[in-house]
Amino acid sequence: MAKQSVCVVFGGVSSEHDISKISAATVIDLLDKDKYDIHRIFIDKSGNWTYFTGDIASDANDGAKDKFDKAIISPSQNDGGILRFGKDGAVELIKIDVAIPVLHGKNGEDGTIQGLFEIAGIPYVGSGVLGSSVCMDKCMAKILFKEAGIPQADWVTVKLGEELDVREVEEKLGYPCFIKPSNAGSSVGISKAHNREELIEGVKLAFEHDYKVLIEEFISAAEVESAVLGNFDPKIAENIGEIAPANEFYDFDAKYNSSDSVLTIPADIDKVLEEKLKEYALSAYKICECRGLSRVDFFVDKNNGRVILNEINTLPGFTSISMYPKLWEKSGLGGTKLLDSLIDLAIKRRG
Ligand SMILES: Nc1ncnc2c1ncn2[C@@H]1O[C@H](COP(=O)(O)OP(=O)(O)O)[C@@H](O)[C@H]1O
Ligand SMILES: [Mg+2]
Repeated sequence: MAKQSVCVVFGGVSSEHDISKISAATVIDLLDKDKYDIHRIFIDKSGNWTYFTGDIASDANDGAKDKFDKAIISPSQNDGGILRFGKDGAVELIKIDVAIPVLHGKNGEDGTIQGLFEIAGIPYVGSGVLGSSVCMDKCMAKILFKEAGIPQADWVTVKLGEELDVREVEEKLGYPCFIKPSNAGSSVGISKAHNREELIEGVKLAFEHDYKVLIEEFISAAEVESAVLGNFDPKIAENIGEIAPANEFYDFDAKYNSSDSVLTIPADIDKVLEEKLKEYALSAYKICECRGLSRVDFFVDKNNGRVILNEINTLPGFTSISMYPKLWEKSGLGGTKLLDSLIDLAIKRRG
């Protein structure tokens, strides 16, 4: 059988640029070289696209645009691939069978690059435009979770131009409360307010990152994560994983810079709670119309047995220490096979 032509797109303009590079190196390493010809597009922090042929650890930086050829995904369905602009002025068309956006956050996980692949008519791994954008926008996702009857932290939304109703927050949510930009990711702009002053400051900070801010009731509970795979009939990995954050909450530093955040698989929760959680995870995945893969994150209060949905990550981290691939590996689906499944799901996806 002829090899499939796969394009891994990585880097990107979001705050998760660096983690994307580590995930991409892992994905490229895991992809079965007997089945796939791998092409790489690197997007630097300023948004320059290059046809990347270097070493990710040493060459995927701001110097890449001078070192490597410029490349774009052609929006023309006749092309169905990458246009590579040689330094000598020649333009080469490279046909692509499937794209793997190994990107997180803005422009990667929010439906925008997915829209480009739709226009180009190139199948791609993961959720479509709708599922990606809905899951990226925490306020929109909460409206859908509510519709599906899934328990979640109580919340208040404030949009730019609206007055923050401090009284409403205090009566409905109390202190401490959590303040988040609706679209950001990676804990950027998130804070925990213990009083009115911190609430006002926290909302100001969150508005630096987005036009819409979510304020949530504080949930004091264990953080657990589940791995879902599939299109219309998704399945969930047997094991649930637990994270014990190194810092007061699972912030950017605790996620990416600290080696003290401990992952435990399986999570120490009882069977009844685990079944509930799996049911909620699948129902959340379905109502948001996720496709391919998602990591669905929860809070579990071990004292009173509450299971509370936190969020869906449509393009979870894929490094060697990331929860999503680890949970599937525990279920007997190693990284290489997992990527085969994801590529297959991308090609079979309809809507
Ligand atoms: N309502 C909440 N109560 C307690 N902790 C929270 C709450 N919301 C978020 N957190 C903490 O903040 C972290 C980041 O929040 P999250 O909503 O997952 O944003 P991100 O998209 O940046 O991952 C969580 O992993 C958790 O540690
Ligand atoms: Mg999170």
